[in-house]
Amino acid sequence: MPRFPLPSAPVLLFSFLVLPLAVSSAGAQDSWTWPDRGQNLQVFPEDTSPERLRAVMTGFTRALGVRCSHCHVGDAGKPLSTYDFASDENPMKQTARVMLEMLGTINKSLDTIEPSGPTQVNMWCHTCHMGKPRPMTLAEELTESLTEGGAGAMVEKYEELHENFYGRGGYDFSEGTLNSLGYEQLEAGALKEAIALFRLNVERFPASGNVHDSLAEAYREAGDRERAILHYQQALFLDPDNDNAAKMLAELRQEGAKQGD
Ligand code: HEC
Ligand code: HEC
Repeated sequence: MPRFPLPSAPVLLFSFLVLPLAVSSAGAQDSWTWPDRGQNLQVFPEDTSPERLRAVMTGFTRALGVRCSHCHVGDAGKPLSTYDFASDENPMKQTARVMLEMLGTINKSLDTIEPSGPTQVNMWCHTCHMGKPRPMTLAEELTESLTEGGAGAMVEKYEELHENFYGRGGYDFSEGTLNSLGYEQLEAGALKEAIALFRLNVERFPASGNVHDSLAEAYREAGDRERAILHYQQALFLDPDNDNAAKMLAELRQEGAKQGD
């Protein structure tokens, strides 16, 4: 039997905060209660108490940022009494079982390590998922939307994730993410995409010399001399030690002089 990261105090504690929300959406008339005995428990012990089941299930919704209907057969917003919780028809439920087994294996391995603090650190669903149904990095999310819908869709995706997740630690919103994605595109010769990524970074981090430098480089490659000069100037202004920006500015001005402007 795997070890579950379940019946511990933190989960029980926040379940009281989460549950009223989860159930209120089901309507005041709903007479559904947590079963005394599950009919189809394959990972948890058959005699798992209703309190424990409730703590675990509400913990899942919170760790993955989903509703009960993500894994169970039922319509979000409908009373819970209309759900078939014992059914295995929703494939997400089976995936969740595999995840539970995986977590049990991980925690068993951790058990064999001498912890460096007074207590052993356990892995939880939240450790990987951090409020997301699929635990993707920001770079993976943006690359997916860039491939599927182009630069516009990528910028929209960024704004949406920023709105919903910024400050919650689920995605790396520091300037490095967009900067390295931008360079990936630049190296692949996708100038429009690279510029979209670097521009977004400049909007988010206008006081960072480094992101202006990157944008300037992309503009230069795209042959937009004026914008390249503008952003190299910004980069140098924000970071006077940026020798690269100084050198590029000198080159761009020389090119301009040759062309007679
Ligand atoms: C991430 C997926 C996931 C989410 C979200 C989830 N569950 Fe579950 N639920 C499971 C899995 C997996 C089992 C079966 C566990 C087992 O096999 O031991 C289960 C079992 C149950 C059972 C026992 C069913 C039975 O009779 O065997 C109930 C009741 C239940 N969940 C209610 C809920 C409620 C209510 C919510 C929303 C607050 C919820 N679950 C959210 C995955 C989920
Ligand atoms: C070690 C990291 C890790 C842990 C811990 C973990 N997961 Fe996952 N989970 C993943 C990854 C990675 C995927 C994405 C697999 C894919 O779609 O490629 C995933 C996918 C899922 C999915 C399917 C999502 C989808 O949209 O297809 C469910 C459901 C899920 N996890 C539930 C859980 C639950 C419940 C727990 C805690 C018992 C848990 N996970 C713990 C890494 C983890």
